[in-house]
Amino acid sequence: MFYKIALDGPSGAGKSSLAKRIAKELGIVYVDTGAMYRTVGLYVTRKGVRPDEEEKVISLLPEISLSVCFRDGEQHILLGDEDVGGLIRTPEISMAASRVSAIPAVRAFLLDTQRDLAKKNSVIMDGRDIGTVIFPDANVKIFLTASPEARARRRTLELSEKGINTPYEEVLRDIITRDKNDREREIAPAIAAPDAIVLDNSELDLEGTVAAALTIIRSRVAEA
Ligand code: DC
Repeated sequence: MFYKIALDGPSGAGKSSLAKRIAKELGIVYVDTGAMYRTVGLYVTRKGVRPDEEEKVISLLPEISLSVCFRDGEQHILLGDEDVGGLIRTPEISMAASRVSAIPAVRAFLLDTQRDLAKKNSVIMDGRDIGTVIFPDANVKIFLTASPEARARRRTLELSEKGINTPYEEVLRDIITRDKNDREREIAPAIAAPDAIVLDNSELDLEGTVAAALTIIRSRVAEA
């Protein structure tokens, strides 16, 4: 039987680093749903449409051919035939993703892609509404969080390692704005499901976070 692990939480809490490690440890597939919203953000930006121009964004959706594939356990996100993984992590596209993700039609557009991926594999899926909307029946739900300052410190470092030098203050400001957008939007707000276990890793490094998450997962999957 396949099982589903929902991993939600705000930007920069370390969901993707954690999910990659858990997927490897358990031999399951890691799905990064943020990459899908980012790809929609990239597409509309390329078309010269502002991500808050809801009607225009909606009119572009039928043109978007988005798919994911897995190579050596890594998710690749494709726009048509183009692998856009290297283009979707900039501050501009992060903000565009946050804006388009508040549009109900965009969420509906991506819903089946996300659900279908769990039909043929056990998955750990990271996002904002995986435990609340996509898989209310997930076997394990973890809400990973950390203080905005801890998240901004990590994100600044991560960006600079990719050669993108953005001042800490700007990253922190972006994180606070995106948190607010993501948490307060009417549709699928980024909040913990009532049955999620909240894991705050402000004081934990990656190893500590992996160990804590594995303990939660093993106890829940064993119960199931
Ligand atoms: O996880 P991320 O930072 O790559 O996500 C990019 C944006 O997409 C983020 O602002 C919130 C949004 N998002 C969402 O609304 N629902 C998801 N399941 C995943 C991401």
